[in-house]
Amino acid sequence: MTSPANVVLVFLDPAFPDGRLADASRPQLLVTDQGATRGDGIFETMLAAGGTVRKIQAHLDRLAGSAVALDLAIPSEAEWRRAVTTAVSAHRAGHPAASAAEDELVVKLVVTRGPEGASAPTSWVQVSPVGAAGRRQRETGIDVILLDRGYDSDAAERAPWLLLGAKTLSYAVNMAALRYAHKQGADDVIFTSTDGRVLEGPTSTVLMAHVGTSDDGTTVKRLITPQLDSGILPGTSQGALFAAAKAAGWELGYGPLEPQDLLDADAVWLISSVRMLAPVNRIDGKEIGTPSVQKELTAELNELFAGIQ
Ligand SMILES: Cc1ncc(COP(=O)(O)O)c(C=O)c1O
Repeated sequence: MTSPANVVLVFLDPAFPDGRLADASRPQLLVTDQGATRGDGIFETMLAAGGTVRKIQAHLDRLAGSAVALDLAIPSEAEWRRAVTTAVSAHRAGHPAASAAEDELVVKLVVTRGPEGASAPTSWVQVSPVGAAGRRQRETGIDVILLDRGYDSDAAERAPWLLLGAKTLSYAVNMAALRYAHKQGADDVIFTSTDGRVLEGPTSTVLMAHVGTSDDGTTVKRLITPQLDSGILPGTSQGALFAAAKAAGWELGYGPLEPQDLLDADAVWLISSVRMLAPVNRIDGKEIGTPSVQKELTAELNELFAGIQ
């Protein structure tokens, strides 16, 4: 479990080139910080396995994109990389993992607009252990419900101030959707648009697969995700897995997807950086695909995903 005792905190501070270590069990933010008062800021969540942060460049690129969407001037990539190294090293030194398999850390990059009236943002790196629930769901799979997000799939383009494609700190809605799912006995959520499109999970990207046979008898495997311009966050895991799957001979597809497409799929997953591939067993109580095919495809994609740095 994450408690302040096992969180390592490093602020990005011009006076400390490698970042300034701070005590996560002590108050560190001003009450006027607009991250706290308005959820005005951005973040990234990455996975460090064996001390190496996976896909760090893709996360830094997406952080830069979110910063542009919010007009935030954020620290340079070099400063982030140094602070991440400081934080991950400090965590591994202070809290060694019990085994190589458990040597997994959540590395969060956070930027807020800073205290009201201040000219600089507040930026920090936060490192903590990976929670047991997420690790378990990689194996057991998850039950999901579909929930209406309340926007149509053109909203992102029509109303860019909604910041739909940015990873902002305003995740209260996403967390409320997850609590709603838990109260219904489900593990997670897939959001749909008011025009009936499949969008994304509150903290993950939707993937589905079809297995077929071509005219010459060879097996064709197709990996599909909702189209990126429908107001969803571009997933770094989806992007990296698609590249690896393509190299391994999979066909790729990008929506539009409707809920029925998920119900007709051979397998569905929610994918994200820390939980990685979580196989979806049921959507709104309906079983997805066949367990043996899901298992086989999950094993194959897990292997491809494990090879990504
Ligand atoms: C809304 C949303 N979509 C997708 C993702 C998956 O992104 P990534 O694969 O980069 O972790 C996340 C990650 O937290 C998310 O919050």
